[in-house]
Amino acid sequence: MTTIPVSPASFHISDKIASSVYEGLLSSPKWLPSWLFYDSAGSRLFDEITRIPEYYVTRTERAILADRAAEIVELAASERALRLVELGAGSADKTRLLLSAAVERQDTVFYEPVDVSASALVEAQIRIENEIPGVLVCPRVQDYTHDLELDSTLPSERRLVLYIGSSIGNFEPGESMLLLERVRAALDPGDCLLLGVDLVKEHSVLLAAYDDKAGVTAAFNRNVLVRLNRELDADFHPETFAHRAVWNAAESRMEMHLVSETHQTVWLSGIDLRVNFEAGESIHTENSYKYRVGDAEALVAKAGFAHEATWMDERGWFAVCLARAV
Ligand code: AVI
Repeated sequence: MTTIPVSPASFHISDKIASSVYEGLLSSPKWLPSWLFYDSAGSRLFDEITRIPEYYVTRTERAILADRAAEIVELAASERALRLVELGAGSADKTRLLLSAAVERQDTVFYEPVDVSASALVEAQIRIENEIPGVLVCPRVQDYTHDLELDSTLPSERRLVLYIGSSIGNFEPGESMLLLERVRAALDPGDCLLLGVDLVKEHSVLLAAYDDKAGVTAAFNRNVLVRLNRELDADFHPETFAHRAVWNAAESRMEMHLVSETHQTVWLSGIDLRVNFEAGESIHTENSYKYRVGDAEALVAKAGFAHEATWMDERGWFAVCLARAV
């Protein structure tokens, strides 16, 4: 289990990827941040995950929004014009349902997607403006996990911030609280937040969703090593790391790991780091927290919102919670 940093002072870790990989692979147990999944190949694989039969998350939330979009939009607007903000530019398919419902009640809808990726925003802008006449997209390139500043609104408008797709589940509890407090600070009283959370359910359902038969989630997990090979000049053999999904009941989360099948040493020349792996040693790559009924409501209340309504699917697998800034 020895990990030997080779002359750690001989390079300057300026880059966010380099510094987190350095820290994560020198830790015991080893970890990598889950945001590393989303290079272009990883984003494509995630897109594929949202369509596999076992990954109920996207489909279930989509069905709730398809049923309730008009009601959500009406309640959030409470007699004003609604301006939609979305944290991330990735959930366009579900967003479309809410934007279409908003266009039904007012002629023009401003939509402000916030994302670190300028190219994802441009893609979202083209797609949405073409598909839903009446929507004006005002993209904002920003890392909302650190900063959030929104366009100002007219007194006749209200914002509805969408944080859907269970993205909140990939943050540690303390981080998700900070994130929601940041969202609250960027809003005016009366503005709303729509939060999508995945709920605790039978473990077999959760395990299948994170370890699908076709191996798409395994490829998504291993892609992080492919990325490190490319971006940090590493020599990982991704096929020698097994994908493992684990339900951690004590922490109420699904975990993903990459488990080294052999005793091996990996060299990351871009950050001058040599890492030893024992056979069976794992890199913890993701947590996906699952909520219980009432958790999301308690979380938004702590962050400075008043809970307005929660919608769930019939099986009680997913919840969409609307909260108003107080
Ligand atoms: C993006 N996020 C909400 C997904 C999740 O379910 O936690 C990422 C994912 N990891 C494995 N499958 C999907």
